[in-house]
Amino acid sequence: MQKLIGAKKINIAVFISGNGSNFKILVLDSFKKKSKYEIKLVISNKATAKGLVYARKFKIKKKIINYMNKKNAEKNILVELKKNNIDLICLAGFMKVLSKTLIQKFKGKIINIHPSLLPKYKGLNTHQRAINNREKYSGCTVHYVNSRLDSGKIILQKKVRILKTDTSSKLAKRILKQEHILYPKALKKVLISL
Ligand code: GAR
Repeated sequence: MQKLIGAKKINIAVFISGNGSNFKILVLDSFKKKSKYEIKLVISNKATAKGLVYARKFKIKKKIINYMNKKNAEKNILVELKKNNIDLICLAGFMKVLSKTLIQKFKGKIINIHPSLLPKYKGLNTHQRAINNREKYSGCTVHYVNSRLDSGKIILQKKVRILKTDTSSKLAKRILKQEHILYPKALKKVLISL
């Protein structure tokens, strides 16, 4: 991809699978006066993803991508990204793993938020695993996406204390609050470097 220059706003696609609270936060941040980006498109692999309500609410174009066949799904994704002149992809609770081919096509232009202090607790079930291991802290990480799961270069992290009384869902809630602060901050950092 070409280097992105000038005053033109960066076009972003957000990928979701569920509640979309991070998607909502990014949209609200993009509405701020000095924002350097615009959320042009939201992609979901699930038609029932709750987060799609924000697409309607904020008039963001949405696309549901059927993942029955991953190759076809990614072909369709690439068509949409091109059609909407997307410069950068933000994964926000997108529960599918992107192929090497797609990642290569958007090299350095895909970021993800993950609910742990990477490199600890890659993958799923992060909160329960951190509690089971009696960690003092967990947190969240925004990182670049490379071909290895949750292993790309870290952009920003935020620590969250694990309390004795924590359950996986209590901890998830407190971490999610921090995600909502961290993701727009990390995105700004990325945009400066583009
Ligand atoms: C967030 O906690 C995000 O970090 C996590 O899913 C949640 C999505 O919440 N992502 C992953 O676990 C990716 N491996 P949201 O749909 O309300 O933004």
